[in-house]
Amino acid sequence: MSDADFATRRAKARERLNALDPHMTPGGVEADPKRRDWFEAVYALSEGDPAKVPWANLAPHPLLAQWLEQQGSLQGRRALDVGCGLGDNAAALAQAGARVTGFDLVAGAVEWARSRFPESGIAFCAADLFDLPPEWSGAFDLVHECYTLQALPEALLPRAARALAGLVAPGGRLLVIARARDEGQEIVGPPWPLTRKQIEAVAVDGLTLTTLDDLPTPQGARHWRAVFEKA
Ligand SMILES: C[S@@+](CC[C@H](N)C(=O)[O-])C[C@H]1O[C@@H](n2cnc3c(N)ncnc32)[C@H](O)[C@@H]1O
Repeated sequence: MSDADFATRRAKARERLNALDPHMTPGGVEADPKRRDWFEAVYALSEGDPAKVPWANLAPHPLLAQWLEQQGSLQGRRALDVGCGLGDNAAALAQAGARVTGFDLVAGAVEWARSRFPESGIAFCAADLFDLPPEWSGAFDLVHECYTLQALPEALLPRAARALAGLVAPGGRLLVIARARDEGQEIVGPPWPLTRKQIEAVAVDGLTLTTLDDLPTPQGARHWRAVFEKA
């Protein structure tokens, strides 16, 4: 199987998935406000082919991998991967020594992640960022989220920020990786790359923004890598 085949299957899947997404149609937002139906459809229609899951690159995000290298060991730390998808970022956190929980809205994604990393010790589970298990409140030294905020409608971002902040333990950190755009820059989404103000607005409920890097990825697109701390 060549990379070209993978790219072709991905492009076809993307076209079909865009056609299903009411957020791609003016006025269609109310049909699926949290995009739950659409995320369910992505995994259900993939037939187990990662090429058909638009964000599944079967490797940790390079900006997470680079950040983890700079951190050294996370031995003994409790880490949470939000919207874990097929689990590669959760696996990178586990590789760095953390005790990892990875969760996703879609049960099919969770099963898939679990089957890909059976020996990792990662607790993969289905959960909704907007309806979290109470025992997760303040339970994680490191909360990581990659590409989930930018996949949510703008109106949900304040709620998502509060949910993320609520997961971080005192003294813990939140790491956010998202595509970046300039203020006022026209975008066609979803996904909706985030502005600096939108990233800064994640600092709620005791979180302080401590580092905000504006970085290229190997593919060239600008990304934010933001670290928040809770006192
Ligand atoms: C754009 S994908 C990114 C997946 C993964 N973080 C990555 O970087 O490959 C967003 C993921 O968040 C999940 N998701 C969307 N809304 C969610 C919610 N309310 N709670 C938990 N997960 C959610 C989706 O099912 C999807 O797997």
